[in-house]
Amino acid sequence: MSEAIERLVADVVVVGTGVAGMTAALGAAPLAVHLVTKTDLESGSSLWAQGGVAVALGHEDSPELHAADTVAAGAGLVDPEVADIVTRDGVLAIRRLIEIGAEFDRGVRGELAFGREAAHSRRRILHAGGDATGAELVRTLALRVRAAAGLTIFDRSFAEQLVVEQGRIAGVLVRHPDGRRRLHVAPRVVLATGGLGQLYRYTTNPREATGDGLLLAAAAGARLVDVEFVQFHPTALAVARDPLPLLTEALRGEGSVLVDEGGERFVAAEHPDGELAPRDVVARSIWRHLADGHRAFLDTRQAIGERFPERFPQVFAACREAGIDPRREPLPVVPAAHFMMGGVAVDDSGGASLPGLWACGEVSSTGAHGANRLASNSLLEALVFGARVAAELRSTPAPAVSADASLPLPPAADDWRGGGELHREVRDLAWASLGLVRDAYGLSGALARLATLWRELPAGASETRSLVAAALLVGAAARHREESRGAHFRSDFPAPREAWRFRQFLTASVDADGVVPHFETPAAPLADGAPPPAASPEVPR
Ligand code: SIN
Repeated sequence: MSEAIERLVADVVVVGTGVAGMTAALGAAPLAVHLVTKTDLESGSSLWAQGGVAVALGHEDSPELHAADTVAAGAGLVDPEVADIVTRDGVLAIRRLIEIGAEFDRGVRGELAFGREAAHSRRRILHAGGDATGAELVRTLALRVRAAAGLTIFDRSFAEQLVVEQGRIAGVLVRHPDGRRRLHVAPRVVLATGGLGQLYRYTTNPREATGDGLLLAAAAGARLVDVEFVQFHPTALAVARDPLPLLTEALRGEGSVLVDEGGERFVAAEHPDGELAPRDVVARSIWRHLADGHRAFLDTRQAIGERFPERFPQVFAACREAGIDPRREPLPVVPAAHFMMGGVAVDDSGGASLPGLWACGEVSSTGAHGANRLASNSLLEALVFGARVAAELRSTPAPAVSADASLPLPPAADDWRGGGELHREVRDLAWASLGLVRDAYGLSGALARLATLWRELPAGASETRSLVAAALLVGAAARHREESRGAHFRSDFPAPREAWRFRQFLTASVDADGVVPHFETPAAPLADGAPPPAASPEVPR
């Protein structure tokens, strides 16, 4: 294709501007950084985070206790060293954030106020503005980013493809808002593109969470890991909105209860920790109850009552917008896709397998979340790993790259924004077959249909293409993992299996005919002598 292409040169390109991307970009100074975002600086899932940042800063707390809770929640797949890094460095990251102006909620004597959430053994969740924690972090970082020397923001700009030359990163092909594509030539690229929540019909994630980073990394040949683990938040407000408003776990942390239409506390009847049982347990309990024809509600009247508007202003506004008053009536709930535990496999500096590529935030998989992320650990991980990536960028010499602008370019899409019939079909399919409860039959059917949809996609990089690729990867990995663990539940293999207690690494072949994952056989011997799972299953094309 002979499109004249302008070259823009940088030391580093950061794709994505949530808490992770902005932290990495700020820390990389004085390098020349291009910060590329398809929306604007203040957007993405970070901005929406209600429930706060878990951090071991309380009197009776320690990073060791926080790490132990993180490992326990992750259903056998958290890397303990990474949990140590996040919880220990997290304390410093929050102190630094406070120094640069972040305002967390405080008690009457000015002390930091810590909330409680499921599976945390201590009160250690910081909030800002009640339930506007993410917005406060984004505000604080965005102020700095706008003022930073050497940092150029490219907003409304869609990253179409990573450029790889001689086996290493050489830049990113980006579609700018004027419709033209430009080559951002750089020896180092950081993916901070967020998650894939929009893959599912019901999600708490903003419209832009379409899994773009997964496809960018997979197509460039980088390793991914654990993509079958998608966390569903138990309590989204069940109203006709997309995305669904989140009813933060802090509501349950303060004693709100889940009831059905007859006022029965059905989750409490199933698990000793009741409403504060691990997130996957609560979400599946609600899912099953709904599937059995019941309804599910979060009743906040007794626990929060008249304090609701002041304590949870964002949630209160969303409820009122839907015509519901949480002070007077229980809130209808449904589980919704919330967080991707897997992603681009990175080491403890955020480095991906492809030289010159780093990843941080939700698009990455550091090993901190295992099969089930502990609530409120993701902003902390984004801050810690954003900073680690930046430190690595500053200290690693970068080779010269050329990113030859005369290379053949991929076709351009008419419009990269998602939407339309095919986009909706993928979301429905994912919700039905790749969601909270999976089985081989449903997954195989979905994969066959997705393989067809991939071939029918209009030409060019787009959010819909990202979604189909994400669905193919999640579906194939979910079918491959023949057990249930954390957020991944297989009704045909309903228990965890020791032989599967490993992180599932893969690379993928991506071409016009399909997205085909190649699963690596685990390097470590399996604990119970069971035969190892096959390296790579056949995937319909
Ligand atoms: C919530 O507020 O419930 C979400 C917090 C999180 O997912 O970490």
